[in-house]
Amino acid sequence: MPRLRLVVLVSGRGTNLGNLLDASRDGRMDADIALVVSNKEDAPALDIAKRAGTPTTIVPSKGVERAEHEARIMDAIEGAGADLVVLAGYMRVLTGGFIKRYQGRLVNIHPSLLPAFPGLDAQGQAARAGVRIAGCTTHFVTEDVDAGPVIMQAAVPLPPACTPEEAAARILRAEHRIYPATIQLIATGKARLHEGRAEVEAQSTEGALISPEAPQ
Ligand code: GRF
Repeated sequence: MPRLRLVVLVSGRGTNLGNLLDASRDGRMDADIALVVSNKEDAPALDIAKRAGTPTTIVPSKGVERAEHEARIMDAIEGAGADLVVLAGYMRVLTGGFIKRYQGRLVNIHPSLLPAFPGLDAQGQAARAGVRIAGCTTHFVTEDVDAGPVIMQAAVPLPPACTPEEAAARILRAEHRIYPATIQLIATGKARLHEGRAEVEAQSTEGALISPEAPQ
């Protein structure tokens, strides 16, 4: 099977991008990152891409009409010949035209077990709510923000009185496991969007967890 060509959209820190670059090199996913697009010129993610020798482009969003901004991103994606567009901390909501064009070829990661805690600071929301089991979700992107068909989820136990920072750190470790795994499912034809649902062939329930563990 040919390797998938990815374009990754970022706005900030870039740990998911860095992890995907590693995963591409170390064989966790049969995919290559052809281009990294940032809407922020000072995004640390850009340095991560450059250090890996991956092409980058900045498409500023500030003060630019949404349609104009998205048209420029689409040009960059088409120019790179992308099979899959990967949102990795891209902090701008995409509009319907963009999302329709890449239907089934546009994925996101969100740091909660969706549909719980959509929106900003999902890890803080989880910590403040005092949930024992938080997590993260990869999903196909649809027009409803943080509500597209789920591809993969990881549950992450939180200790009582967990701080938002601790929750974020624990959840991030799980993000770094499931994002390359999700892309590998797509690359190998084992996950696809079909009639509004994510069809996923790997259906293992191994690793399901209860926190805290109940006494035997
Ligand atoms: C991650 O928590 C991701 O789930 C969310 O934005 C954050 C990006 O972090 N969508 P990073 O830039 O990949 O470090």
